[in-house]
Amino acid sequence: MPVFQFQDWITAHSERTESALDRLLDSAQTIPNRLHEAMRYAAQGGGKRIRPLLVYAAGQLGDHKENSDALDAAAVAIECIHAYSLVHDDLPCMDDDDLRRGRPTVHKAFDEATALLVGDALQTRAFEVLANARCDANIRLRMIAVLASASGSRGMAGGQAIDLESVGKKLDLVGLQQMHAMKTGALLSCAVELGGIAANLDADQLAQLQKYSTALGLAFQIVDDVLDATADSQTLGKTAGKDAANDKPTYVTLMGLDYAQQQAKELQETAITSLDGFGEKAQALKDLALLVVNRGK
Ligand code: IPE
Ligand code: IPE
Ligand code: MG
Ligand code: MG
Ligand code: MG
Repeated sequence: MPVFQFQDWITAHSERTESALDRLLDSAQTIPNRLHEAMRYAAQGGGKRIRPLLVYAAGQLGDHKENSDALDAAAVAIECIHAYSLVHDDLPCMDDDDLRRGRPTVHKAFDEATALLVGDALQTRAFEVLANARCDANIRLRMIAVLASASGSRGMAGGQAIDLESVGKKLDLVGLQQMHAMKTGALLSCAVELGGIAANLDADQLAQLQKYSTALGLAFQIVDDVLDATADSQTLGKTAGKDAANDKPTYVTLMGLDYAQQQAKELQETAITSLDGFGEKAQALKDLALLVVNRGK
């Protein structure tokens, strides 16, 4: 077996993500043109594509040839949900941000009503893409079910509700972890699960993956909190210092910078160790855990 080159893997799968997005999003010439243009603006250009990369990495864990249509559909669907969550997160009624992925946010580049509709339409497009994936119907249905629950009131949207309720309040550590697990962890875990479902993994293997993705999901938001407090807007491509400005409880405000960084490192190790049973096939997932925790360094 040739030595696994993570950088080559990232390049190939980032390109694959961009081309799947381009293929599966409506063209800007589709009526209504402005809405479709804004959907493309939100979903394309910039973005680390961590969730699609997790889909593809987990999709390599199976015993058979990869289920490539299911994986492309899952990669696009999870990125559409994520992009929608960012568009709404940036609205004046939420975090009120005007910079995202190094460009004006959708409500600044277009207008608020369009940003609302972009979120609505990206969300339903995600499920349409999964429903139309060329793969076994049972796999399609399971993918739709896990994406729906990770996106909704018990997942991302629920976590965002807790985030907004918590402005100016002091959450305890358990409350903060719960919020992070929902607003960010749910979609990251879902990305891994989608890949696992497409790869036909059994229940034990999916449970092992769940340990990886729970640790990774929390680590991801801890690092996001750390970078908000330590990096500049140019590097982040979004407004630095926004959590403090909006008086949000974060890992940094509650536990301090050193603890937060230490915690992210421990979670990274937990995530990587939990993949031991998968052997060499899990190298991309392991390297992605390292990338997530060390980004910005
Ligand atoms: C930002 O997510 C929002 C969070 C859930 C912390 P990413 O850091 O993955 O943002 P992009 O997709 O790379 O822009
Ligand atoms: C957002 O968390 C999580 C989402 C569900 C979008 P943040 O509000 O910290 O994300 P950024 O820092 O604006 O990307
Ligand atoms: Mg927010
Ligand atoms: Mg925000
Ligand atoms: Mg943040």
